[in-house]
Amino acid sequence: MKYKSPIIIGSDHAAYILKEKIKAFLITFDITVEDVGVYSEDSSDYTDYGIKVAQGVSTGQFERGVLLCGTGQGMTMVANKFAHVRAALCHSIFEADMSRRHNDSNILVMGGRVIGEGLAREIVRTWINASFEGARHKERLKKFDMMGEHVK
Ligand code: RB5
Repeated sequence: MKYKSPIIIGSDHAAYILKEKIKAFLITFDITVEDVGVYSEDSSDYTDYGIKVAQGVSTGQFERGVLLCGTGQGMTMVANKFAHVRAALCHSIFEADMSRRHNDSNILVMGGRVIGEGLAREIVRTWINASFEGARHKERLKKFDMMGEHVK
């Protein structure tokens, strides 16, 4: 992997097992992983962990993060409420690639009840390695910062 910056990761109970597998996968590439939980399959609220990871990225402490819950839907909704966060729910390699190239996604979200470990690993590999293409896509992203007066 050419990407070597630390990654913040979090999940709820529904994706705890997948989180552990993705964490181990990232570590094999010498990527430092900050795991904010959960640490077991005991029932938990995805919001608590989505907030932790989104805050880490929103504040600039981490350039990128990974969030996992049962479907990935709840984590995506939470994370995208934070400034400067562009969370992408990806269940295909194509989505992961395009979310980096066109949307400069900085949080990858997947559903542990939707996909298996093998596909999840390849999605992570693709998302980590793909680069933002800038140019016209950068101009589009600038408009995110102009939404303040419309979004409360
Ligand atoms: C937990 O049962 C489930 O609702 C959660 O993991 C997630 O899928 C929410 O979006």
